[in-house]
Amino acid sequence: MADTIRWGIIGTGSIARKFAEGLTSLLDAEIVAIGSRSQANADEFARQFNVFHRHASYEAVVTNPDVDAVYIATPHSLHAENTLMALAAGKPVLCEKPFTINARQAESVVQAARSTGILLMEAMWTRFLPPIVRLRGMLAEGIIGEVRALEADFGFRKESREGRLYDPALGGGALLDIGVYPISLASMIFGPPSQVAGVADLGATGVDEQAAIVLGHPQGQLALLHASIRTHTFNEASVIGTLGRIKLHRSWWKGSDMTLSLDGGGEEFLDFPFTGNGFQFEAAEFMECLREGRSESKIMPLHETLAIMKTLDTLRAQWGLKYPME
Ligand SMILES: NC(=O)c1ccc[n+]([C@@H]2O[C@H](COP(=O)([O-])OP(=O)(O)OC[C@H]3O[C@@H](n4cnc5c(N)ncnc54)[C@H](OP(=O)(O)O)[C@@H]3O)[C@@H](O)[C@H]2O)c1
Repeated sequence: MADTIRWGIIGTGSIARKFAEGLTSLLDAEIVAIGSRSQANADEFARQFNVFHRHASYEAVVTNPDVDAVYIATPHSLHAENTLMALAAGKPVLCEKPFTINARQAESVVQAARSTGILLMEAMWTRFLPPIVRLRGMLAEGIIGEVRALEADFGFRKESREGRLYDPALGGGALLDIGVYPISLASMIFGPPSQVAGVADLGATGVDEQAAIVLGHPQGQLALLHASIRTHTFNEASVIGTLGRIKLHRSWWKGSDMTLSLDGGGEEFLDFPFTGNGFQFEAAEFMECLREGRSESKIMPLHETLAIMKTLDTLRAQWGLKYPME
């Protein structure tokens, strides 16, 4: 593997731009190809990020011999198809969250990667941010004792019901778009749930506009989660243990600060600031896996991605939320 990993990006929307900006923080990464449904979008993206190959198709990115790794930034409904296409072309894939529309799709994608040994990872960027890395360390050290509960929410108000977020054909709704963040946080802390329960408000377009979720875990640990695309919530997360609590402050999935409160008294404000927009950390993990010849990340392994997709499926089944492509 060359010193510099040469990325190809599929899709030119908002997250593709953030990821491209994140890569500028890494000295050993370069974007060499961008793929779009339209030449004009590819050209515009390429101009902005100084990309050499500007393709008017996604396929041209994955078959481009100059591309070492593919980042998929299309709507959820295309993740499985795009990932399978890249894997078939022999390209390692970092795919945006939610990994796919449902667990069935996820299983087929994981199976394709495992049968070839090609690196595949869900782009759950939060997990790689310095404060979350430190949180994992603090929990492993037992600083707040035995962790018994998590409370976490992610909500913003998207006024217009036009576009991807509310469109069932693109896998719209709060759960798949942002509910996956607190669910992934619960999974990181407790592992897979043994009980899954949720209540959702299905809105005018038929997708979940807000959802309350409770996950139960084998040792009795609970996760109380909330996701919304109709209301701006506090966007905080609290990890609660037998000896104290850690509160991740506003916009916890991208934030840098937290407060540690111990039952014996004392509160400590902790900050783990980072440079760049934060998307470089998931890319750095992926690139390290690639260089080491690993087919999965230990921090975001495929069995966990599959379990998260199953949780999403279980919740949608309870709500009667089925997408047209299912
Ligand atoms: N990790 C994060 O923080 C984060 C944040 C936001 C979104 N995401 C995830 O990233 C994915 C993309 O989200 P986004 O917010 O970037 O969406 P977006 O702004 O709508 O961009 C999606 C891109 O996908 C391509 N596309 C292909 N078929 C499309 C279709 N039928 N409708 C719309 N776009 C289509 C388009 O690029 P071309 O026209 O150039 O082909 C479009 O620019 C989603 O799965 C989302 O969950 C992750």
